Amino acid sequence: MAIQWTPNLSVGVDHIDDQHKIWFEKANDLFEAGKNRRSKEVIGELLGFLDDYTKQHFRDEEAYMKKIGYPDLDKQVAAHKHFVEQLAKLKQDYESSGGSLTVIINANQMVLSWLTQHISNMDKQIGVYVKNMK
Ligand SMILES: [Fe+2]
Repeated sequence: MAIQWTPNLSVGVDHIDDQHKIWFEKANDLFEAGKNRRSKEVIGELLGFLDDYTKQHFRDEEAYMKKIGYPDLDKQVAAHKHFVEQLAKLKQDYESSGGSLTVIINANQMVLSWLTQHISNMDKQIGVYVKNMK
């Protein structure tokens, strides 16, 4: 199963969509590396990248919501914080398991379904708000 951004996940704000697309690519790289039993170092690096990219993306998304006066900013910040914590836990589990393939595959499913749900339920609302502003 490849991890892919699909047009039904479009939020309708280009720079957010672009970052989501990159995010899915990176999650896919990680998933593939796990499947292909790449070295612990390669997977560790990809996990680190995904972790950094996620944090940067959330910072950008939150700055944008602030700029447009988005009313549900607090809910978004709380959801983002929770996800960053899950990612940190995943990194820890991976390291403490000594680079387990199961950890990486399960984690990928978790991470992917979380973000897909988050985009569909919460991020799309940002696009609705922007549309109504015009
Ligand atoms: Fe978000």
